[in-house]
Amino acid sequence: MEQNKDHWENVYNTKSSSEVSWTQEVPRTSLDIILSCNVPKTARIIDIGSGDSKLVDFLLEAGFTNITVLDISTKALERAKLRLGEKAALVKWLVQDVI
Ligand SMILES: C[S@@+](CC[C@H](N)C(=O)[O-])C[C@H]1O[C@@H](n2cnc3c(N)ncnc32)[C@H](O)[C@@H]1O
Repeated sequence: MEQNKDHWENVYNTKSSSEVSWTQEVPRTSLDIILSCNVPKTARIIDIGSGDSKLVDFLLEAGFTNITVLDISTKALERAKLRLGEKAALVKWLVQDVI
């Protein structure tokens, strides 16, 4: 398990968002699925394996108030928090191995 964490910490410590294949400027599919559920803005939403994805930014912008972001990499979440600035305080951050 530690190997997996080491792998992902290494990725986020050595590559920028533009250097990995999965980065989306707008995570359209995930966002559209969540919005199509028509859940209240207070619904509990968790992004598991979030990395430093901007999904949380768009969820905040859409008015969701109960967002949790979980990733195995401390660095990934640090990067997302840094990007969000003061808005980061509106989110629950978990560095966890989901397995
Ligand atoms: C391919 S990246 C996708 C990141 C993000 N969802 C995005 O679309 O930009 C996979 C992510 O899953 C995380 N991850 C891998 N194994 C995990 C585990 N066992 N528990 C939690 N996160 C994990 C990695 O750290 C990485 O951020």
